[in-house]
Amino acid sequence: MAIDVTPLTPTLGAEIAGVDLSALDEEQFATVFDAFVDHSVIFFRDQAALSVDQHLALARRFGEVHVHPFERLAPSPDGGGSRGLLRMHTTADSRVAAGNRWHSDVSCDERPPQASILQLHDVPPVGGDTLFSGMYAAYESLSDRMKRFLDGLTAHHSGEDSYRKLFRVETVDPGATWPAVDHPVVRRHPDSGRPALYVNREFTEYMNDLPKEEGKALLAFLLDHSERVDFQCRFAWTRNAVAIWDNRCVLHHALWDYWPHERRGHRISVVGERPAAWRLDHDRVPAEHRGSTVRLTA
Ligand code: SIN
Repeated sequence: MAIDVTPLTPTLGAEIAGVDLSALDEEQFATVFDAFVDHSVIFFRDQAALSVDQHLALARRFGEVHVHPFERLAPSPDGGGSRGLLRMHTTADSRVAAGNRWHSDVSCDERPPQASILQLHDVPPVGGDTLFSGMYAAYESLSDRMKRFLDGLTAHHSGEDSYRKLFRVETVDPGATWPAVDHPVVRRHPDSGRPALYVNREFTEYMNDLPKEEGKALLAFLLDHSERVDFQCRFAWTRNAVAIWDNRCVLHHALWDYWPHERRGHRISVVGERPAAWRLDHDRVPAEHRGSTVRLTA
């Protein structure tokens, strides 16, 4: 069957038809991977429910399976064969819903996830969409002066607020240390060679190397900017659909607008590299990835 890749917006996102994710041959995987690099987030409908082993095998096509800090700090006794699998489940009794704020998965890790692969097995009757925002476009649309100002800056990302205070994972020792790390504010994507803004509302706490008030104002601007609607696409889930997004160049937000309904699925992420800074005086976008889709603001 021919593989069909249909872009969702000029900026990011594509829906892919004609593949069975549980049985991708080399050529099909190469097409899927190219679409992942070109569109930053790709969607597949009409899939069968992936078994844990099939889901893990799919993740391993992209790289090493990432183990979430929840699991690193509180390994589940039956975790062996499903290590790396996150069970996403929101019910009428949930106090919080995972991902209900703009973020890049676990950006507080030293080597944060690159791909995240989510399959939803149960979807609410309406609502529960996931929004994605493109960080290539976010960076491209900044003025040259702002790009120069951001050049070489780093920001501090921490899991404390999110994991300790919001999720309050009871199985984790209260004395445990959640991950925290500094990352470049603009990173170079290793596959596309493009610069992407790399801050997010969930994990980025403060900017380094600036007076506190300047850093706060700059970070507030960058977070608002990264969530601009013209950088976004939105996916309305259907049962067993799969989304694969690239945390190095997109943020996402899982909307919790479906209470009291239930939403359930499995996510597996893939370890990425330590983010490398994009440096204006050294880095160039490769010819095949040039061409802005964003009108620059005056
Ligand atoms: C997440 O992985 O952050 C949640 C995504 C979703 O549930 O749509």
